[in-house]
Amino acid sequence: MSNESLANLLKEDRRFAPPAELAANANVTAAAYEQAAADRLGFWAEQAKRLSWETAPTETLDWSNAPFAKWFADGKLNVAYNCVDRHVENGLGDRVAIHFEGETGDSRSLTYADLQREVSKAANALIELGVRTGDRVAVYMPMIPETVIAMLACARLGAPHSVVFGGFSADALATRIQDADARVVITADGGYRRGKPSALKPAVDEALTKPGTENVRNVLVVRRTGQEDVAWTEGRDVWWHEVVERQSDRHTPEAFDAEHPLFILYTSGTTGKPKGILHTTGGYLTQVAYTHHAVFDLKPETDVFWCTADVGWVTGHSYIAYGPLANGATEVLYEGTPDTPHQGRWWEIVQKYGVTILYTAPTAIRACMKWGDDIPAKFDLSSLRVLGSVGEPINPEAWMWYRKHIGADAAPIVDTWWQTETGAMMLSPLPGVTTTKPGSAQVPLPGIAATVVDDDAHEVPDGAGGYLVLTEPWPSMLRTIWGDDQRYLDTYWSRFEGKYFAGDGAKKDEDGDIWLLGRVDDVMLVSGHNISTTEVESALVSHPKVAEAAVVGATDPQTTQAICAFVILRGTASADDEGLVAELRAHVAQQLGPIAKPKRIMPVAELPKTRSGKIMRRLLRDVAENRDLGDVSTLTDSSVMDLIQAKLPGAASED
Ligand code: WT7
Repeated sequence: MSNESLANLLKEDRRFAPPAELAANANVTAAAYEQAAADRLGFWAEQAKRLSWETAPTETLDWSNAPFAKWFADGKLNVAYNCVDRHVENGLGDRVAIHFEGETGDSRSLTYADLQREVSKAANALIELGVRTGDRVAVYMPMIPETVIAMLACARLGAPHSVVFGGFSADALATRIQDADARVVITADGGYRRGKPSALKPAVDEALTKPGTENVRNVLVVRRTGQEDVAWTEGRDVWWHEVVERQSDRHTPEAFDAEHPLFILYTSGTTGKPKGILHTTGGYLTQVAYTHHAVFDLKPETDVFWCTADVGWVTGHSYIAYGPLANGATEVLYEGTPDTPHQGRWWEIVQKYGVTILYTAPTAIRACMKWGDDIPAKFDLSSLRVLGSVGEPINPEAWMWYRKHIGADAAPIVDTWWQTETGAMMLSPLPGVTTTKPGSAQVPLPGIAATVVDDDAHEVPDGAGGYLVLTEPWPSMLRTIWGDDQRYLDTYWSRFEGKYFAGDGAKKDEDGDIWLLGRVDDVMLVSGHNISTTEVESALVSHPKVAEAAVVGATDPQTTQAICAFVILRGTASADDEGLVAELRAHVAQQLGPIAKPKRIMPVAELPKTRSGKIMRRLLRDVAENRDLGDVSTLTDSSVMDLIQAKLPGAASED
């Protein structure tokens, strides 16, 4: 990537200082950076005091067997006690923990006292089903309160959960059950998706016919949709309402070691079998609680927090289940899709509950941009005071739209960079401190050490690009890959000695602020220049007729790789407009320089995405290089690829 194109990203020259009132009352000020820099471990030891420990830790970090970390190793605590019971004991039993909004319009609110009873009952039920400390429990659920209750019940018993996203297939579920050797599966008859019941139980039944799943003794089934003809295996399957409801609503939590496993969460790497990312107890909860407090400036007495992620992803684990509840927050849990039954559904929910902090993903923001400014304008969004973004680099265009149309040109945007592996946020502006720049995650949080290095592991100077690395261990780091320590070493710790390799490309600007450029596998090599897919996508989306763009490098005899762009046009633009393609190429050349001008631009109706919203570039590369498509099972809608292929001259007819 040439320095000109970085300059182009920055030339927007838009800087947004924190709102004065927010800054004056912010939970965290600039002093936190100084404290953490002066004594990083002391800083985290201090943050661990946010939790209630049965035995307070005297050790902070044990890095003697690096990179296998132990944080707060001699401390003991119970995660569910921290997320639920202690708030009730502190007199907050009547505070709403979860406002649940079903897709079909049903809703219910659970207070912390309700949550304590429900989690206790679920824990007692799991005990009755033979779940013991250390047993793994798979959770395959829709977005309903029972999912969070199930996770907390597992945590309460020290039984690590493995939540598998409800959109995954039976095969994906089976692989994860096998790898973790789960003993119980918690599921539902189904959930609501786009206004219709969508079954889950059949996938569990199918998964449990596969070899390696024999150790699953019970399937605990929540009745959500009331679908008829739920297949039933007597002796194995039990209804939640029959087994959980009759339990005592009291259960005394036991404290576990800080390094006791809390959960396994599989990351769906593009190749190889999924990696079971292992997180443990004390360090994880410390960092999710601290970051939720600091990055969102959470005021638990008055804020209403809403993270739109699915609880099946790490964002849902850390910022639906654990961070907000550890902090005694009131939060929204929404079951469905943003456009059911209408495209204003999210904004209606913000208005209904007076949501003050919204945490969502760039892909969702771009979808809302595409639907039009008039939709959010119909709702009262004046309660919103902090906006968050996560999951991929947010293009400056979407950032500006988010600020203007959702944040009333006032709410600070926190662009939070982190990963399943990091467990909690790592880079982000602080809303009361940082002057934000559209499109940049900017700075490591207090207590986090990150930088950008070149191929030889040397830190790059300001203004240059390379690889993002984390240079010191952090409390919520993954401890290993479940059952595969060697893969943990190889994947994260072997590229640069002594540093964690995140797999993302990044640049530092002239102020030293960090800009994420996408996965390193997504960097293109064009005539000897490294060009990031993210930057070309940002340039395309900055054109008024483009709603969304995905860019890949296709093998090219002349230039090594040629830039191929797939674009979704805005409402009025026509895909048959030859002039438009020329105009878009010229626009990119003007924004980033002629070297970044896409060789081909293909208007399409949809882009292939994983269920977590990440564009599947591998598939687009296959299309661009006229190859057969590989595995499309993790796509949200595989017909998208047929449509794209059919449009390409030659591509579809060659095989
Ligand atoms: C990858 C991790 C973190 C929870 C959701 C995704 C990309 C994530 C950002 C951001 C630029 C981002 C990175 C990262 N990513 N947040 N704010 N800016 N890129 O978790 O599925 O483990 O994916 O998502 O490429 O490595 P994940």
